[in-house]
Order: sequence, then C-alpha cells, then structure tokens
Amino acid sequence: MKKLLITGGAGFIGSNFIHYWQKQHPTDLIVNLDALTYAGNLSNLEHLPHPDQHLFIKGDIQDQALVEQLLQTHQIDTLVHFAAESHVDRSIQDPDIFVKTNILGTQALLEAARKIGHCHFHHISTDEVYGSLNMTDPAFTETTPYQPNSPYSASKAASDHLVRAYHHTFGLPVTTSNCSNNFGPRQHSEKLIPTLIRSCMEWQPIPIYGNGSNIRDWLYVEDHCSAIDLILQKGQIGEVYNIGGHNEWNNLDIARLICQIFDQLKPHSQPYESLIRFVKDRPGHDQRYAINPHKMISELGWRHTPNFENHLKALIISKCP
Ligand SMILES: NC(=O)c1ccc[n+]([C@@H]2O[C@H](COP(=O)([O-])OP(=O)(O)OC[C@H]3O[C@@H](n4cnc5c(N)ncnc54)[C@H](O)[C@@H]3O)[C@@H](O)[C@H]2O)c1
Repeated sequence: MKKLLITGGAGFIGSNFIHYWQKQHPTDLIVNLDALTYAGNLSNLEHLPHPDQHLFIKGDIQDQALVEQLLQTHQIDTLVHFAAESHVDRSIQDPDIFVKTNILGTQALLEAARKIGHCHFHHISTDEVYGSLNMTDPAFTETTPYQPNSPYSASKAASDHLVRAYHHTFGLPVTTSNCSNNFGPRQHSEKLIPTLIRSCMEWQPIPIYGNGSNIRDWLYVEDHCSAIDLILQKGQIGEVYNIGGHNEWNNLDIARLICQIFDQLKPHSQPYESLIRFVKDRPGHDQRYAINPHKMISELGWRHTPNFENHLKALIISKCP
C-alpha cells in the first residue's frame, strides 16, 4: 500500500489524478496539500471513490515545516508535485507569483523530501520548457534543449533543473514528466477549451489569439494520469518522460471543431462559427508544441486513447446535457 502526498490536488490535473488513482489503487492513502488559490476548487474532489482514503490539507508548498510534518506523520513514500501557477497569460501580467510558487515552492518540497529521506519525488512539468517549434521541426524528445519563452515556462524550467540537481547532488529519488496541453473534466474556465465551450454555451464571441494558427498537442487528462501511474510503478529513478497525445491541432481548427459539435448537439439559427473573433495575440506566443512520446510507449508500455472528437463531445455533453 502506497502513501502519497499530492500537491495541487484541488486543481485540474491533480484532482483528476486523485480520482484516477483511487479507482486503480483503492487502498492507498492520499494526502492532498493545496493552497486553494483561484485555481483550486474543492468541488473537484466531490464524489471520490474512496473519500476515507483522502485527507485534504489547506496549505502552501512553500511552508517547508508543514511539508516535513506531513511527510513524517503520514510516512509518505511517494510525492507527486502538481501544484503550480499554470496560466501563461497570468505569468505575463504578474511573473512574481510564478517565481515564488513554481521555483521556491518546488525547492521547499525538495528540501523537505531530502531531509525526511526515502520518498520518490515525481515532478510534473510541461512541454513549454522546450520552447517553440516550426512546422517542419521534429517533435520534442527528452533530450531537446530547454528554451523557455514565457515567465511561466521559465519558472517551470527552473523547477525541472532543481529537481534534477537534487537527484545528482543529494541522491533524492526523482522522476520528471513533461506533458503537452491537457483537456478534460474539472479544468479551470480560463483555459482554451473551457473558454471555447463556455462561449458556445452562452452564445458569446469566441476569442482566438492572432490568426489562430498556434499549434498545441492535446492530451486527454486521464491518459496523462495513466502515464504518471506507469512512471510511479515502472519508471527509472533520475529519468525524464515526455507525455503527449500525438494530437496536434491549431487553435482555429479546435474552435471550428467545437462549433461543429455544438451545431449537431444544440442547433442555433446561425452556425456557431459565426461567433469566432480574432483578438490581439499574446506577447511572445509560441507557435507550435509537439511531443514525441516514444520513450513512454517503448519503455513503459503506455497507450493513450486517440479519439479527440469523442472526448470533446463527452465533455460538452457533461457541461450542457
Ligand atoms: N494544464 C495543462 O495543460 C498542463 C500542461 C503541462 C503541464 N502542466 C503542469 O501540470 C501541473 C498541474 O496543472 P493544472 O492545469 O492542474 O493547474 P491548475 O492551475 O488547475 O491547479 C494548480 C493547483 O495548485 C494549487 N496551488 C497553487 N499554488 C500553490 C501553492 N503555493 N501551494 C499549494 N498549492 C498551490 C492551486 O490551488 C491549484 O489547485 C502544473 O505543474 C502545470 O505546470 C499543466
């Protein structure tokens, strides 16, 4: 039986991970440390399969004494670190909190884990640390050089380097995964796909940055959770794993696809595409991200569920039955 400390478990991916983990490993104890920032929501943790095996602690990952106490009291053997400031646009408006949470917060967790010892530290990071691709560039692999372009991706890159350094310098047992853009249930409304769906539901303008040509590689959040599960069971300590959906879409085409699904499910007098509006681009907007997940597939046997349109349809139906 494992005893896990999950950070950021009231956010989008962390809460999906807790639901997923409890279905797969019903007897494990989960301690969930989350500061409940604007992005955290306790309703994400409603209807857990085993609520008695989940302990929620409201607190900040920068509070090293609290983290040490949790690791010791609950004899934690696995720490999965999701907590972060995660929205690129906010990092452009106010980078400070990104440095504090993503860099100093990660360092406080690493330090606590080092002091207590013998805890597998799995760090959740992003493909954005690798920078931006041109259309003909091959997808990112685990050896692609880091070239972060936004304050968000720079703060995540710094945290990745700290995780690596704590392994090399202190022998802390770490793994890191860098994933592409996630979508699925419980995602905060500020992100792209929730914004597109909400705009259609409310028959409001659909904002698309620039000309909509920016490309992301969309990963269903449950597939991300199954990949983390495999890393925790079979991953090699000290290794990095890239997780992506083999599913590249530009923003305009995603907006059109969602509009077409709404045209079928909730027909309106005009097509939903008529709501699309191009707005001023994000400064320094990366053109393209794409992940090569070969290592996850060949070494750990990971498989993802490929049907993007069906996942989107199910998501839309769950929001407006
Ligand atoms: N969402 C994506 O598409 C995506 C893609 C790649 C990587 N990631 C990474 O995955 C992780 C989770 O992302 P998400 O989309 O679920 O984020 P999110 O913004 O939905 O959730 C973040 C959670 O962390 C908590 N938190 C923030 N600061 C904290 C602090 N100081 N102490 C304790 N808790 C704190 C928040 O309350 C929230 O519950 C992040 O590390 C992010 O960088 C996300």
